[in-house]
Amino acid sequence: MFHPQTAERRGLHISFLGVDGIGKSTLSEQLVAELRGRGLTVTPVTWRSCLDADLPAWPQQALRTLWMDTFRLLFGGAVDRDEHVILPERYEEWTAQRSEDQLGRLRATASSPSGPLAAALVEFAGNVVLHAEVIRPALERGEVVVQETFPYKHVLKEYLLASELTTANANSPYSPEEVDFLFKPVEAFFGGGALSPDVGILVDGPVELALQWRLGQSGAVGVLEDLRTAGRPGDEGFIALQSASARRFHAFAQKYGWIVHTVRDAPVEENVRRGLDLVLAEIARARPSWSLMTSGTDFRAS
Ligand SMILES: Nc1ncnc2c1ncn2[C@@H]1O[C@H](COP(=O)(O)OP(=O)(O)OP(=O)(O)O)[C@@H](O)[C@H]1O
Ligand SMILES: [Mg+2]
Repeated sequence: MFHPQTAERRGLHISFLGVDGIGKSTLSEQLVAELRGRGLTVTPVTWRSCLDADLPAWPQQALRTLWMDTFRLLFGGAVDRDEHVILPERYEEWTAQRSEDQLGRLRATASSPSGPLAAALVEFAGNVVLHAEVIRPALERGEVVVQETFPYKHVLKEYLLASELTTANANSPYSPEEVDFLFKPVEAFFGGGALSPDVGILVDGPVELALQWRLGQSGAVGVLEDLRTAGRPGDEGFIALQSASARRFHAFAQKYGWIVHTVRDAPVEENVRRGLDLVLAEIARARPSWSLMTSGTDFRAS
């Protein structure tokens, strides 16, 4: 019988879910340092870092073109200052023109729902490749793979954007039910299928806090963090999109047995300490033979 999980038994896949700016990367970076301090081989994996990493043409070319296409689909139908947004086709031009930075300055208005709906599927496709060709081999080598953002987040946002545009657009080619129909199996593949991590952590907390932290960090919400391509940019669009995401994340975490770390309006060190306690206990449960939680030892002391 074929056991798709067996090959992954040697390593451990850890992934963080949560709304934009809620502190996933902050906690994830501390976890990486903590695990390395205990002698484990830890590999942080993001799709973005694979674009310029030392990887063979397969899968790197596919990861590059799919990456550019998610943005192209999200913004291709959008209008900025009366013109459709046009993005470069080649990765070399993409980096030379700093296309992602340029997108950050757009004030795009309503695109067609076909863009974000297709973006959700391309985002999914890219993550299928990333998992099979980058994450899984690292697990087979016995490494701890830490994914600071579980990619379900991005796919969900694109799907929510498509839903918003479908509802707002009387001429939409799809009904909200049809969009939902397409999303369900994708969600199941993330939650209970091959893409699901060994240890999944939902970083939960008020979206207003996430907004406050994001504004403190970069002065404005990011290009993919509000509903700007549905005509709702800025703080209001951020709260609307992130609140809808947070509701879906709760349901997802409950359905698929993810642990929940709730952040508070407290110093970052306090939230990180509680988060690390929770995650390390969960890792110790998942891999008892690693002896991570030797009794009486304060893991932060080293
Ligand atoms: N408990 C906290 N108190 C104050 N600020 C915090 C706290 N946790 C995180 N921050 C700050 O909030 C900002 C966003 O955090 P971070 O980048 O870790 O979020 P994220 O969930 O990874 O966001 P994204 O989804 O965009 O990747 C950072 O500036 C971080 O320092
Ligand atoms: Mg992050």
